[in-house]
Amino acid sequence: MAQSEGRRWRWRWRGKLEEVVEGEQAVSPRFRPPSCQRFQPLSFGLPESMGKCSLCFAFVVALLAALAGWLGSAPIPEARLFATLIPLANGYLPPPLFGAYARSPVPEVPDDLQPASRPAGEMFIQLPGGTAMPASGLGLCCRPTAYDDESVTRSVLWFLLKGGRHLDTAQMYLNHKAVGRGIALAMARGVPREEIFVTTKIPPRFYAGQAPAAAVAESLEELGLEYVDLLLLHHPYATAGFLGPCANGTAAECRVNAWTILSSFRARGVIKELGVSNFGVKAIEELQSLRLAPVAVNQIQYNPWALDWQQEVVDYCVNNGVGITAWAPFQGTMMQNAQAFTVETLTKIAAAKGKTVPQIMLRWALQKKVCVIPGTGNPSHMSENLAVYEFSLSDEEMALIDTLRTDPKVKNFVAMGFEKTE
Ligand SMILES: NC(=O)c1ccc[n+]([C@@H]2O[C@H](COP(=O)([O-])OP(=O)(O)OC[C@H]3O[C@@H](n4cnc5c(N)ncnc54)[C@H](OP(=O)(O)O)[C@@H]3O)[C@@H](O)[C@H]2O)c1
Repeated sequence: MAQSEGRRWRWRWRGKLEEVVEGEQAVSPRFRPPSCQRFQPLSFGLPESMGKCSLCFAFVVALLAALAGWLGSAPIPEARLFATLIPLANGYLPPPLFGAYARSPVPEVPDDLQPASRPAGEMFIQLPGGTAMPASGLGLCCRPTAYDDESVTRSVLWFLLKGGRHLDTAQMYLNHKAVGRGIALAMARGVPREEIFVTTKIPPRFYAGQAPAAAVAESLEELGLEYVDLLLLHHPYATAGFLGPCANGTAAECRVNAWTILSSFRARGVIKELGVSNFGVKAIEELQSLRLAPVAVNQIQYNPWALDWQQEVVDYCVNNGVGITAWAPFQGTMMQNAQAFTVETLTKIAAAKGKTVPQIMLRWALQKKVCVIPGTGNPSHMSENLAVYEFSLSDEEMALIDTLRTDPKVKNFVAMGFEKTE
């Protein structure tokens, strides 16, 4: 019985293969499934039908253990995980395992391309430290072109030469060095450092003890910069094992520790502005009450389908002098941006204005005084995303887009599930 089970299984497997390979003999040994019968001695006394694949099971366990060990050996394991899974899910060999892509999907920047002027009518968000944050940035995570060094450097250079001036990176994205190279190349072509607004973030695993100080030093060194314009606490606390637990204290104690240390760096001018990301109102007020550096920015998911609690946080920040940067303005690389671009309300407004849906989505956020950092490695998309200042949406069009989040026809366009934070 067990043998015939094994045979049936093999036969089915080969049956599948025979669709592409003719005849059993033609099946390459590389693609043969392991024969359970060969592993009979490793059945560990289990009933024959269960023990037959014990080696397969042991192999999977060993593989997972090796993977966990490999991830765990990284300074930021969750960052290595994302940098592996995101390219893999999109058909690219993950750079942490295989190194640079054989060919970057981001086109090479021509040697003679000179900096274009900045977008006319560009908007800025005024921050408490006196900095004017350019409202159109480039997001640098969560897509295959954000984890391959050459692609990142080219993306940054393209964006800066096209007149963009705001870059959004993080320790979690593992691309500081490549971002820094892109900045240096742009500066060599005449883009002034003072015009470039660089945001980076530190993850919760670096909020305790002296880790925030080390994180700042490492970020500056990797970026090749003497200061960053904005440094954010990436998340209020570890989420579901991601973003790393904060050792030595409660999440609130860790945030206070990090804020205290980072405020001293801000006082020295190494960080121009300090902010947070994915924070709720309570955690923002807790930091404001320290009377150290003011919370300059909260970077949070924001698009027409943002969740209620995110809308409330945005309203609170806009009304209390905390700048808002919208991550996933198109619902995120991994989410439904392609479908969002087909929503009729948006396509109609776009057609009436002779603009694209992404431009309408960005303009909607900008008119709510929200900075946008769409992620792209595509130079044409960068141009499109920067060309959002020569038109505006009427009050009526803004109100129509506001209705999308409760419109039952597009209710499946739920925002990226992110649990409510304090
Ligand atoms: N603080 C946080 O916790 C957090 C979390 C997530 C993200 N972020 C930041 O926010 C940034 C933006 O979020 P995101 O990149 O996840 O999502 P997103 O900006 O909503 O969407 C990015 C996707 O939109 C596409 N796209 C960009 N411009 C386009 C255009 N003009 N036309 C058509 N498609 C376009 C990109 O594809 P192409 O490459 O093909 O253009 C990419 O797949 C990130 O890059 C990152 O810097 C922060």
